[in-house]
Amino acid sequence: MKVPIGIFDSGYGGLTILKELVNQLPEYDYLYLGDNARAPYGSRSFETVYQYTWEAVQWFFQQGCELVILACNTASAKALRTIQQKKLPHGYDTKRVLGVIRPTAEVIANYSTSKNIGVLATSGTVNSESYLIEIHHFFENAHVYQEACPLWVPLIENGEHESDGADYFVNKHIQHLLQQNPAIDTILLACTHYPLLIPKIMEWVPPHIKVVDQGKIVAASLADYLLRHPEIAQKCSKNGRIKFCTTDSTSDFDQKGAIFFGKSIKSEHILLGQ
Ligand code: DGL
Repeated sequence: MKVPIGIFDSGYGGLTILKELVNQLPEYDYLYLGDNARAPYGSRSFETVYQYTWEAVQWFFQQGCELVILACNTASAKALRTIQQKKLPHGYDTKRVLGVIRPTAEVIANYSTSKNIGVLATSGTVNSESYLIEIHHFFENAHVYQEACPLWVPLIENGEHESDGADYFVNKHIQHLLQQNPAIDTILLACTHYPLLIPKIMEWVPPHIKVVDQGKIVAASLADYLLRHPEIAQKCSKNGRIKFCTTDSTSDFDQKGAIFFGKSIKSEHILLGQ
């Protein structure tokens, strides 16, 4: 039996990734889960993010998914490696779980002339230093500067990303980042929620700086992965269907999720961690 590709996020952010997956790989079926009841993950401890993410991954496995994408930088930073190394080899060795940090780190320095790259992310992602490590792995000469933006996800999740109040926090963190090195010429939005803030971010970022979000990068990387791994691609169903699930209110998810996904959506409620 063929099965959909699982897409996981703490809440709505992964929908910005799913949107690009559907653009680049429209033939596949996708099962999306937002753990909205327990979001945001960005300020939670390593242990908590790991526990929540593993519960979500097990739920995808129970639904039959063979391939799960953690479309959340915080979950990728804090849970992916442990799941890949400690969980999958014990009873799940045919399953694959992939994240969004490595595919982004593989290409981000190609956007930069000065090789000075700024990373805006949640506190969890910044403190994990995953981007510092992964970008240096692929681009030894790159200089990476990070800034945590702890209030950006709550602003977005509460529909305040277009408000005047958002300007203060957007400007503050962009200035903090750029003060670390004025030669930064590329800013990576290393949180899947942040694309909703792009109109505000562009107002505060000098025009010579590139602002890069992850959707297209992750989608191109998954397309390449499926080509290189036909044994995994063959297990994935191709009817162009998407199913949306949330651990919180479906009416909230349908209303707010449509803003992230760019189309109307209809979700189902599920429980995690029971
Ligand atoms: N969308 C998640 C990410 O990419 C973070 C949101 C949260 O803090 O839950 O990091």
